[in-house]
Amino acid sequence: MVDTEELARGYTLANNTQRDAGNFLIEKLEITPGMRVLDVGCGPGDLTAQIAEIVGENGSVVGIDPSKERIAIAIDERIKPNLSFQVGRAEDLSQFSSGSFDAIFVNSTLHWVEDQPAALMEFGRVLKSGGRLGISGGSGDFVAAHERIKADVLSRDPYRMYQEQSPPKFLKKVELEDLLDRAMFSKRDFIRRKIIKSAEDADAMINWLDTSSSGKTYGGIPLELRPKAREEMKHEWDKLTTKDGIQMEMEVLVTVAIKN
Ligand SMILES: C[S@@+](CC[C@H](N)C(=O)[O-])C[C@H]1O[C@@H](n2cnc3c(N)ncnc32)[C@H](O)[C@@H]1O
Repeated sequence: MVDTEELARGYTLANNTQRDAGNFLIEKLEITPGMRVLDVGCGPGDLTAQIAEIVGENGSVVGIDPSKERIAIAIDERIKPNLSFQVGRAEDLSQFSSGSFDAIFVNSTLHWVEDQPAALMEFGRVLKSGGRLGISGGSGDFVAAHERIKADVLSRDPYRMYQEQSPPKFLKKVELEDLLDRAMFSKRDFIRRKIIKSAEDADAMINWLDTSSSGKTYGGIPLELRPKAREEMKHEWDKLTTKDGIQMEMEVLVTVAIKN
């Protein structure tokens, strides 16, 4: 994890796209008062706090995230009697008992999870029977401009010498179906949503990518090479910039699955 406090704080200011996607997922997941909800990959906890408002004082929400920088902000700024945060990873939910949640919310996060099959099995374990799993994130069936630009620049010298340790993996719908089958989620609905990510210019787009990815926009290259790579990425984004800024098409795959 290459996160910093600056990136973690910057995320809260730049995350409109994830917040809109999260609001859509909250609605589809049908979160209601009294539920106990787990927010996996909660970041600084903006959406987690919103979910806590919905479940109210008779419900409770726990947010987990591997970034101690993001959890520190969430704990400092958002904690309430029905809302708590912990450092943790999707792949290992051993701090929670089996069947202890009514719903799990995973927004803009699954592509960062290194062992996605293990995470899905853990979601199945900690949900109650009939519990609801909501996942929203970039679809592996569509390659967005930011992925093309990252791959292009990082394939150049000298960056191509440095392998990315755990690159993001955007799942195709068939791959997610397979993981859900293996984790015993036989009832599920999928929605594909085409969305436009707007940014006023190349710097704003790169800032959004950096804060959203905890710096992983730069793959495995050393910190001292990042400014040079950033300039080369900026040059590519400049080519896509019009008088209205940048309008990047993305495809979001939204899944709501019910535990058997
Ligand atoms: C784009 S942010 C999304 C944050 C929040 N869910 C939202 O929608 O605003 C992705 C988050 O995934 C977290 N993450 C990365 N690897 C993870 C893992 N293995 N398990 C859980 N969360 C992870 C990152 O630390 C980061 O906070």
